[in-house]
Amino acid sequence: MRKKIVAGNWKMYKDKSETIELISQLKEKLSSYTPEVEIIICPPYTSIELAGELIKNSKIFLGAQNMHSEIEGAFTGEVSGKMLKSFGVEYVILGHSERRSYFKETDEFINQKIKRAIEFDIKPIFCLGETLEERENGKTFDVVENQLTKGLSGISRIDLEKVVVAYEPVWAIGTGKTATPEQAQEVQSFLRTKISELYDSEIASKVRILYGGSVKPENAKDLFKQPDIDGGLIGGACLKADSFYQIILAAQF
Ligand code: PGA
Repeated sequence: MRKKIVAGNWKMYKDKSETIELISQLKEKLSSYTPEVEIIICPPYTSIELAGELIKNSKIFLGAQNMHSEIEGAFTGEVSGKMLKSFGVEYVILGHSERRSYFKETDEFINQKIKRAIEFDIKPIFCLGETLEERENGKTFDVVENQLTKGLSGISRIDLEKVVVAYEPVWAIGTGKTATPEQAQEVQSFLRTKISELYDSEIASKVRILYGGSVKPENAKDLFKQPDIDGGLIGGACLKADSFYQIILAAQF
């Protein structure tokens, strides 16, 4: 049985005082009842250290939203896995569609980052998904297969155990337009089959595959009930403690 994950991607939201406010509200909710769900928050870099201190001795794990593939060097504005690790970061979102589109990240670069994260014992949350145009042209499965294969290129079976995959259809991110549970399940079951072909069925049955894209308290349960949806990567709805907590509760059944 795969343990469900609910990860919050804060994106470029929350300054210092807002970080304190959101985490204390979330901790308060979790103190009355914490379900058996892996809870991850991914604040911006500026709040990583503070968030790490605030969630100490809680059941919340610390994640980052990106990292560079190099360990160190002349890369102005970038942050490495080595740096993240030194602040206790345990997960990192890689290949998010906003990184792919606004910052022109390629599958090859994402693959290098995934390998580097694993090297530093940080678990990658590896995002992939098709655009609306690709879906309408019937290319969804080709696109996600290509992203999956390139992203996991050269990653051993043993290292794959550390990877979390997140299917995030681009047309559903931040648009309020969620994939139906059936649409998400269809792609996620396809991804699991592909993982099984690339590796084997035993490891494929262990890999957690999250859904992301306008997950809200109202739709989370139906999505998470699907056999190949092992939780969610949450954007907008993780910025308020109440809605994030409701989604965490929806992951438990
Ligand atoms: P959203 O973002 O929940 O706001 O659609 C999801 C994501 O970008 O990971």
